[in-house]
Amino acid sequence: MNFDEIIERRNTNSMKWDQLENKYQHTDLWPMWVADMDFQAPQPVLEALDNVTRHGIFGYHHPPHSLRTAIQDWTNRRFGWDVHPENIAFTPGVVPAIHHLINAFTDEGDGIIIQTPVYYPFFALLRSNRRTLLENRLLESGDGKYEIDFTDLEEQMKNGAKMIILCSPHNPVGRVWSEAELKKVAELCTRYGVMVVSDEIHADIILQGKHTPFATLEEAKDLQVATCMAPSKTFNLAALELSYVIFNEKETQKKFERQLQRNFTSIGNPYSSAAAEAAYRHGEAWLETLLTYIQANVDYVKERIEEEMPMIHVAKPEATYLIWLDFRELNMSQDDLQNWLRKEGRIALNDGHTFGKTGSGFARMNVATPREHVVEGLNRLKTAYDKL
Ligand SMILES: Cc1ncc(COP(=O)(O)O)c(C=O)c1O
Repeated sequence: MNFDEIIERRNTNSMKWDQLENKYQHTDLWPMWVADMDFQAPQPVLEALDNVTRHGIFGYHHPPHSLRTAIQDWTNRRFGWDVHPENIAFTPGVVPAIHHLINAFTDEGDGIIIQTPVYYPFFALLRSNRRTLLENRLLESGDGKYEIDFTDLEEQMKNGAKMIILCSPHNPVGRVWSEAELKKVAELCTRYGVMVVSDEIHADIILQGKHTPFATLEEAKDLQVATCMAPSKTFNLAALELSYVIFNEKETQKKFERQLQRNFTSIGNPYSSAAAEAAYRHGEAWLETLLTYIQANVDYVKERIEEEMPMIHVAKPEATYLIWLDFRELNMSQDDLQNWLRKEGRIALNDGHTFGKTGSGFARMNVATPREHVVEGLNRLKTAYDKL
């Protein structure tokens, strides 16, 4: 795979490239926002999809057992986690999965903890389901690094939290939570009887350190844990809408599956199954090359910004292909920062405040794109910076 290859995505109904004007009300923006990649999926995935097309019959489908064992082999190899194939429930996306988890296991008004700044749909999920937001703000510990505020976390649990939605690894701050940090979370959840939804969609995009699936912790053994995973970020398959939830306990899984049935939510797309299985069985070498490529892009962004735009600060992500940029030293209001990025920078980043109040003054940059694209984005940012 040649990750330097530029593949045109304009006029392909790509959200990242073709919804720019709609979203930002500006033309000629350089898209470094939506969290997908400008790379083709691994070759074995493309072949598996071709096979489905050649068969040509698109009748009702169910995900095969072999997909379950492909996931089991993958989690075993990558995380040393032996997931039982029957403990997997398929879902059409992690956000829909979390929506159904919230509805299956909490009631209107119940408190749910999220750790902010965080992936913005978490806020929308709580709002649209009328749950009470319990915000556990992450602490900045210097040099762009964030940590969990455990004192506040315990306070939020005392406020009657029913559930915590972990983002592990964390989007947008790029942390790979350490085993010690996750153990502390597990101990608190056990003490206060809080169910854990662990969104581990970025678990395969690890740049530094080691991902620990929350459910593998000894300290989590008495907890209700639902782990959300997917091949979508890892292999760039988001549009195929396949994800899954792994349960550590049968009754919890059954309750969730009843919730899916009640809402007529199922996974039945032969393309999704074929792509996911091919990716997990034959995509590992591709992923390793991708990780090296992303790390090089991250290093490039960090070096250039440090040298050429020293008032912007880059938190080096330990995971994900998303970089959390700190513009606070420019002393602009959130509105001014957004306008400056659009008008002067002509670049589309995700606005920091959408990730929560503490994201104000930040923006998120996606570097899962050929180097030439990253260079273009940074050139634009530099032009704007030089005019300050
Ligand atoms: C933490 C997190 N969860 C979920 C998603 C989206 O998942 P899906 O497209 O499967 O709903 C994203 C996408 O960026 C994400 O970053």
